[in-house]
Amino acid sequence: MLPCLVDLELHSKYIEYSFVGASAPFGDPYMAQAAATAQRHASLLAKRLVRYADLRPCTTAFIDTRTPGSAEKENFTIIGPGVSESPDQHVHVRLPHGFNIGGARQPPGCVNSQHSHETAEVFIVHSGTWAFKMGPNLEDGEVVLHPGDTISIPVHVFRGFENVGDSTGYLFAVLGGNDPGRVTWAPYVFDNAEKYGLVLLEDGSLVDTTRGETVPDDKTVMPPTTKADVAALDRLKADDMGGCVLRHDSLDALTCSTLQGIEERPVIGSASDAEGLAAGHMNWLHGFQVRHVQIQPGAGSPLHTRHEEEVIMMHAGQLTVGLPDGDVEMVPGDVLTVPIGMARSFSNSTHERVEAWVVRGGDLPQSPSYHS
Ligand SMILES: [Fe+2]
Repeated sequence: MLPCLVDLELHSKYIEYSFVGASAPFGDPYMAQAAATAQRHASLLAKRLVRYADLRPCTTAFIDTRTPGSAEKENFTIIGPGVSESPDQHVHVRLPHGFNIGGARQPPGCVNSQHSHETAEVFIVHSGTWAFKMGPNLEDGEVVLHPGDTISIPVHVFRGFENVGDSTGYLFAVLGGNDPGRVTWAPYVFDNAEKYGLVLLEDGSLVDTTRGETVPDDKTVMPPTTKADVAALDRLKADDMGGCVLRHDSLDALTCSTLQGIEERPVIGSASDAEGLAAGHMNWLHGFQVRHVQIQPGAGSPLHTRHEEEVIMMHAGQLTVGLPDGDVEMVPGDVLTVPIGMARSFSNSTHERVEAWVVRGGDLPQSPSYHS
């Protein structure tokens, strides 16, 4: 039987003993093999599993973090470098995936200021009620989203978001590319930053003058975004964003692949003839795909491998992921990335439905390879 996570502490103790020679309490070769297996499993999870409870926030990630109304936001960089402007930002998984996974947690009324990106930016609401506001000065309307809703905001348009609910909320974010580049802030964001003591440099980092920091001699201050810069970007009104939003209660209407009680629906990405799935609701090229996966109680997938990076982001329930050296129990908010070519299975041994979001790399979805 494969070792489970709760045994890891015990295993690690015995690994420690098993390398000290004849005095080791576990001289049995089977036990030594089990210890090595547990160690491999722990090593894999240390590199690729990010528990929601272990997320390390950065509260100084961006130029607006001193601005009243934005100071309490927490930014998370879960996979990839993200777009944080602070050296204090912790990156949980640095392995290149071709996309980035991040998170934002904000209390009610907290605002992420208007900005534009060079790559696709997708938000999935995990908890809370959020207004996504469009335009360089929020003049292009807003879209309000609830848990389980998804929005994909095209490149080169100004967007921001605010927690408009009555409790702290959390968003998953997916950005395209190994390096998603830098954020372009709306002009008013620079004005506010100067007022509250933050200076953005051309290399994307911040100088906090309230801490006594000064601009290094070898660095250049980022010129504020100009009216001409704004005019060169696109405008997208919230009223025209129906194709950029997928509501949770619309998921059931999507085409679906079903296997042994596991339903997978395309949210973002191209059609996949190999998998018999139509294109996602947001079907322009993102460089990654997002699927919604639902697993009924007692259901489970066969062992299989994938030809792309596969990241699981838990939304609801408890998911068991079977890996070669052990199982992982995932709960809401957890993120796991499974290596290309590694065998995995998914199962739900609880009495409640599992819901997860799966992000896979590339624009050409392939069929998994099933193991007998
Ligand atoms: Fe953003």
